[in-house]
Amino acid sequence: MIDTASKVREHYTVTDLIDRIKAALETIAPEDQPLTVSQLAPIDHFHSRGILATTDLADAVGLSPTMRVLDLGCGIGGPARYFAETFGCTVVGVDLSPSFIDAATYLTARCGPSDRLTFQVGDALHTPLEAASFDVVFLHHVAMNIEDRVALYAEVRRVLKPKGRFAIHDIVLRDGDIVYPAPWARDASTSFLLREGETRATLEHAGFKVMHWSDDTKIALDWWKSTAANPPTNELNLSIVMGSDFPVKSGNLARNIRENRVGVLSAVCTLD
Ligand SMILES: C[S@@+](CC[C@H](N)C(=O)[O-])C[C@H]1O[C@@H](n2cnc3c(N)ncnc32)[C@H](O)[C@@H]1O
Repeated sequence: MIDTASKVREHYTVTDLIDRIKAALETIAPEDQPLTVSQLAPIDHFHSRGILATTDLADAVGLSPTMRVLDLGCGIGGPARYFAETFGCTVVGVDLSPSFIDAATYLTARCGPSDRLTFQVGDALHTPLEAASFDVVFLHHVAMNIEDRVALYAEVRRVLKPKGRFAIHDIVLRDGDIVYPAPWARDASTSFLLREGETRATLEHAGFKVMHWSDDTKIALDWWKSTAANPPTNELNLSIVMGSDFPVKSGNLARNIRENRVGVLSAVCTLD
């Protein structure tokens, strides 16, 4: 039987990802030309509201240059590069998918700031990271793929310093069946959404205190609607990373939100 982590990894595997990214960048930044962190924003923040959600959550946490930050389920590293470049902090990105980590490393070598960023393959449920070694942990649209939330939040708690902060941006379950394929899962076998109340109760049970709790469902839906009405006019879009059926998956996510099947939550919790 195939385990859940392998199925999730397979869901996010795109063949020849770095070549696909290079081809998409050809018109704006060929290999021998400079590339900036902000130029990559259309393809490297894969969550509802893209970089807007990344900046809002970073502002809610309050990052500073002395901080050591962990981005769990970092994808190809867009949020991690944004945190390091904008706030000067040091960031470690961990992701289940080797092809995403390779792409994160390639893109960071091209546009930096590579001295403050490292990426490694790993499972968020049991990372090889040292205990009490991070000031902030981010989890942007990752928990949907993780069934054992108790173990996930325990691992976050383990790696956080005593006054550390945990920043979450999640899809949560509401009423009705989810329409698949969704961006995070082809079917229910790798989809593990909790309701908003269950999420909060599980976090509090793990020892986190909620500092900021926001229902972002409406702003996320408005963003998905405006993205659908104004599709990207160049090659630089999320289909490169999420596969050619991304328009179907993102359309289903917008439908799931519109029909109140799922909601979008952002939160910041602390251990102090
Ligand atoms: C929707 S993407 C979001 C990527 C990134 N956080 C972002 O917002 O740009 C979900 C990511 O979670 C990763 N992921 C899912 N389950 C994971 C696990 N158990 N451990 C580490 N990463 C995981 C996937 O490989 C994928 O990169």
